[in-house]
Amino acid sequence: MELYLDTANLDEIKEIASWGVLSGVTTNPTLVAREGVDFKRRVKDICQVVSGLVSAEVVSTDTEGMLKEGRDIATWAPNAIVKCPLTPAGLAATSQLSREGVKVNVTLCFSVNQALLAARAGAYIVSPFAGRLDDINEDGMALVEQIVEVFHIQGIETKVLAASIRTPLHVTRAALAGADIATMPYKVFKQLVCHPLTDKGLEQFLSDWKKAMATVAAKG
Ligand code: E4P
Repeated sequence: MELYLDTANLDEIKEIASWGVLSGVTTNPTLVAREGVDFKRRVKDICQVVSGLVSAEVVSTDTEGMLKEGRDIATWAPNAIVKCPLTPAGLAATSQLSREGVKVNVTLCFSVNQALLAARAGAYIVSPFAGRLDDINEDGMALVEQIVEVFHIQGIETKVLAASIRTPLHVTRAALAGADIATMPYKVFKQLVCHPLTDKGLEQFLSDWKKAMATVAAKG
C-alpha cells in the first residue's frame, strides 16, 4: 500500500519525503485555503518535491468548468492528477478527461455504488472518505474493505485510496483491506513511526554502548 500525505504544507511534505517513504500527496480546497497561497504555484512546488502523484481538486460544479480546470491542472506537472467530486457533473468530467488521457482521482466517495460509478467513468483513483463516515457513526473502513472486494470480484483496475484517515489504526485497517493507497495528515504519519518500546530500546542500547566504551577506554 502506498502512503500519501494529505496536506498542502510544503514543510510537512519535505520532512516526510526525507524519510524515503512518501509515494504521493493529496490536497483539497480546504487544505490549500489553510495555507493561504497561490494554488497553481503550490501544486507545482509539491510536484517537484515528490515524484509520485499529487492530487489537485477542481472547484467548479459544472462539467464544462471542471473540464477547463482539469485540462489546465494536467499541464502543471507530469505527476499532477485531477481530483473531481463524485457528482453527476464530476462523473461526466471524469469520463471525458479519462478519454483524453488525463488521470482523475474521484473524491468524496461514501458508498460502494458511488465507487462503481467512478470506476465506470474511467477514474484512475477513487477516494472513499473513512473518517467522515466514522463521524456519523458508520464504519468508514468497512466501506474501504467492501470497495476493494467488489473491485477484485469485478476485475476493476481503478485504485482504491483510503482517505479521511484520522488514526494509525485506520492505516493498518486500510492495509489489511488491500487498499492501494492511504492518504493521511502529517500528524498521523508521525504517529506511524512512534513506539515507546523503540524509544526505550534505543535509550538502553546507547547507554550500554557508552558504558562499554568507557570500560574499554579505562582498560587503555
Ligand atoms: C483526501 O483526498 C481528502 O483530502 C482528505 O482525506 C479529507 O480528509 P478529512 O475528512 O479529514 O478532511
